[in-house]
Formats: sequence, C-alpha cells, structure tokens
Amino acid sequence: MALDVATIDRTDQPTLDAAYRIAATVEAMESPDLPPPCRRRFEAPLWHPMPGIDTRWSVARLDGVPVGWVRVNLHLLDNTDNANIELAVDPAYRRRGVGRALFAHARLLLRRAGCKRVVGAAVTALPDDPCDATPAWPDGHASAGAGREFPGGAFAAALGARPVLVEVRRRLDVTALDRTRLAALRAGARSAAAGYRTVRWHGHPPSEHLTDLAHLEGRLMTDAPLGDLEWEPERMDAERMQGMEQALDARGVRRYSVAAVHGASGRLVAWSVLSLAANTTRHAWQQITIVDPAHRGHRLGLLCKAENLEHTLAYEPELSVVDTYNAALNTHMIAINEQLGFRPVAGATEWQATI
Ligand SMILES: CC(C)(COP(=O)(O)OP(=O)(O)OC[C@H]1O[C@@H](n2cnc3c(N)ncnc32)[C@H](O)[C@@H]1OP(=O)(O)O)[C@@H](O)C(=O)NCCC(=O)NCCS
Repeated sequence: MALDVATIDRTDQPTLDAAYRIAATVEAMESPDLPPPCRRRFEAPLWHPMPGIDTRWSVARLDGVPVGWVRVNLHLLDNTDNANIELAVDPAYRRRGVGRALFAHARLLLRRAGCKRVVGAAVTALPDDPCDATPAWPDGHASAGAGREFPGGAFAAALGARPVLVEVRRRLDVTALDRTRLAALRAGARSAAAGYRTVRWHGHPPSEHLTDLAHLEGRLMTDAPLGDLEWEPERMDAERMQGMEQALDARGVRRYSVAAVHGASGRLVAWSVLSLAANTTRHAWQQITIVDPAHRGHRLGLLCKAENLEHTLAYEPELSVVDTYNAALNTHMIAINEQLGFRPVAGATEWQATI
C-alpha cells in the first residue's frame, strides 16, 4: 500500500469533499451533540485567511484514496514560535500509521518555517470531576466514555506531546432557559455595574470602539488561565480586528456582541460574543468574554453575557443550545456560566509538542 502526503490544491473539489467528509465523520463520532462542521467555514482558510495566519493544509492518500488530513496554522504577527495543528484520519483507516505520517509531514514543514512548538486539542469524555484541572497522560490506550472512543490523547502522547491544559465544554439548554431568573441575574449585575453602560451590535463592531476591542482581544488568550501552555500575548490593533471581521464575514459566521463602556473614561472595558455558523440556526458558541483587569469586580462579565443572550435570541429565535469551552482552571468564568445555567457535557485537552 502506498501512502503519500501532499499539499491540498484549493481548487481540487473532490479532495476537499473527502477532507470534509472525514472531518464530519470524526465530529459525529466524538461530539454527536454538535452540528456538523460548517463547510463554508471549513474551506475558508484557503480563500480568506485570518490576518496574520498562514494555513498549510495537506492530505494523506493511501493508494490514491484520501484517508486523512493535517492543517497547521503558522502565526506571522505574534507567537511565531508556536503553531496550531488539526489532524484527522478516516476511522476506516486508523492504526496504520496515517496519523504518524501526517504529523511527520507537518513537523518538517514547521521546522522549515522556524517554529519551535505545536499545539493541538483532543476531545475527551467529560472528566469525572469537571473542576479537576490536572492534565492526565493516557496509559497508552484511547480514553473512552459514553460508548465512544477518544484516540487523540493516546496519539498525541505517542508522538511526544505533553498535556498542558484541561478544558470542559459546558452547554446551555436554551429551550429550558428560565427567563425570569435570567432577567433577575441581569438586573442584579446591572445594579453592581453602576457607572457603566452597555452597547450591543451584530456583525461589525462600531468603529469608535475598535481600538479598545483590539486591546481586549489581544489580552484574551493570556488573561485566561493557560495551565502549562506556552503562548505569548497576541498583537492586536484596529486594522487586524477589521481584517478578522472580514474573514468572519467570508465564513458566514453570524455574531452578536454586548460590551460595557466605562462612563467616566468612555473606554470600552468588557465584551462578550456569541456566534452561529452559517449552517445552523439552532446552535451557538459562546466565544470571547473578557473584562479589563482594572474594571473587574463589577459583574460586568455576567452583565454582558446575560444581556447578549437576550440580544442574540431577539435575532435568532430558533436558537436552542449554546456551547462554550473553559479551561478547568478558569473558576471565575465557570461560576458565571453555571449561574447562567451552563452544565458540563464534554472535555478536551490541549497538547503541546516541541518540534
Ligand atoms: C488521533 C488520530 C489522528 C490517529 O490516527 P491514526 O492514523 O490511527 O494514527 P497512527 O496509526 O499513526 O497511530 C500512531 C500511534 O498513536 C497511538 N494511537 C493512535 N490511536 C490509538 C488508539 N486508539 N489507542 C491507543 N493508542 C493509539 C499509538 O501509539 C499509535 O502507534 P501504534 O499503532 O504503532 O501503536 C485519529 O484517531 C483521529 O483522527 N482522531 C480524531 C481526531 C484527533 O483526535 N486528532 C488528534 C488531535 S491531537
């Protein structure tokens, strides 16, 4: 059997169809409660890269048949030592060295680009204790849960990566949302947030807030607890933010925001975003929520999140579930999410390898 790994040509639709099918199969097996990956979003990096990100995507073929793929994101504006990796192998062709070959291909490519470390996430079952933040090394076996197998951790360990951060996915069942309680939480947060006003938008942010939003976005990755993950603050400015907005437009992502403005200074100091992929009206991701450190302790996080839920539902009446990932260490954010009714449903571990 001949195995080869080659760069994906972005005009090669049959190969992209096969790559998408593999991604959708993996998602259906590991996270059957999530909608299938959005095809438009899946292919967008080939046509509309995020500013500062260079995506390299390769396919593995066994006797000419696409059986897996690897995608790496090189960072050009910050974190130039770090790269992100996604890797998927068709379940019908596993344990034949395809994953290993894809990783070897990516490692060579990353070494040539001057990268030192690579980070990837592997889905896991919900940990027995969702608050336990200790990353676990698999014992050489794929972990299992709810009748499903999660081979990513055993694979990453076999390739020399180390587990650096435990994450938990929590879900809000919007169909069971207690709106009276939500209104009470929002009212309580509002009275604790005297001196701040909220602003809301969908799609592009108001231009007068771009600089403050860039400041918050730049802090996001390193403000949240990172465990042992080596990651440097990201360099954001208004221009990069606009570029990111255009890339999200190209992906068809609908996004809703509520932010808090500090009355005395006029600065935007807290921000929360919910987004829906182009292929769903029922499922949203709770993305960014961040409060500038100088303005914490006024319940601005809860205020923005609770208001944004109501804001989003006004535009997305079919919305029925919202998912969010938090580091298991992120006790403050988790407390807010639990107050809003989010409950743990699945896990993930971030793995980092020196290359
Ligand atoms: C993880 C994945 C990419 C592995 O692909 P694969 O082609 O089966 O991997 P390989 O055959 O090259 O396996 C390499 C080594 O990883 C380990 N490994 C892989 N799958 C394993 C499993 N189910 N149980 C235990 N160890 C496993 C083994 O050490 C294996 O070597 P061996 O077969 O000689 O014992 C594939 O299962 C997959 O697509 N999973 C879903 C997505 C994912 O988790 N991606 C990786 C995120 S870091």
